[in-house]
Amino acid sequence: MDPEIITHAHPEHLAAIMQIEQACFGIDAFNFKQMRYLIHSGNPFFVVFYDSILAGYSILLVRKKSKVIRLYALAVHPDYRGKGLANKLLQTAIELSQKMNMKQISLEVRTDNEAAIKLYERKGFQITERLPQYYKDLADGFKMKLML
Ligand SMILES: CC(C)(COP(=O)(O)OP(=O)(O)OC[C@H]1O[C@@H](n2cnc3c(N)ncnc32)[C@H](O)[C@@H]1OP(=O)(O)O)[C@@H](O)C(=O)NCCC(=O)NCCS
Repeated sequence: MDPEIITHAHPEHLAAIMQIEQACFGIDAFNFKQMRYLIHSGNPFFVVFYDSILAGYSILLVRKKSKVIRLYALAVHPDYRGKGLANKLLQTAIELSQKMNMKQISLEVRTDNEAAIKLYERKGFQITERLPQYYKDLADGFKMKLML
């Protein structure tokens, strides 16, 4: 059986999602209430399972009347990195955005996050802007965009 399964997030996935969120984002992590809101918000929220373990997730934000969809979060548990899971989550997000007739995907990423920047660039995202002191620890970010 394929070890990787992508599906929509459900409230029963929250505990596992929060563990990954905290391991990945520290002071910038969403709290439980924010994550619960996101699961119930109707925005696209995918989880990826690897050998039946919830190993990562991605969240997209849709704005009314906008053809730009925002990749709001993407994270893979440290024990499950390097297996192509982020790549799968991102591909799923791109395909859904195309199906939804979106024109562009936008995201923000820390300028020092080489792994994520490489992942996005390999899918065709381009850096369009530097965002000074964008994060809580005042680190700079990049805005990246993919035209669909
Ligand atoms: C960035 C992150 C999502 C990558 O997850 P992953 O499942 O390990 O990534 P994949 O195995 O799918 O790798 C896909 C591509 O990303 C790039 N990449 C992933 N990890 C990398 C690393 N440590 N160094 C350099 N490039 C890396 C590579 O281009 C890779 O393709 P390749 O293996 O064919 O070279 C993961 O490291 C993570 O969750 N980090 C913390 C959270 C985060 O930074 N999220 C993004 C916020 S904008």
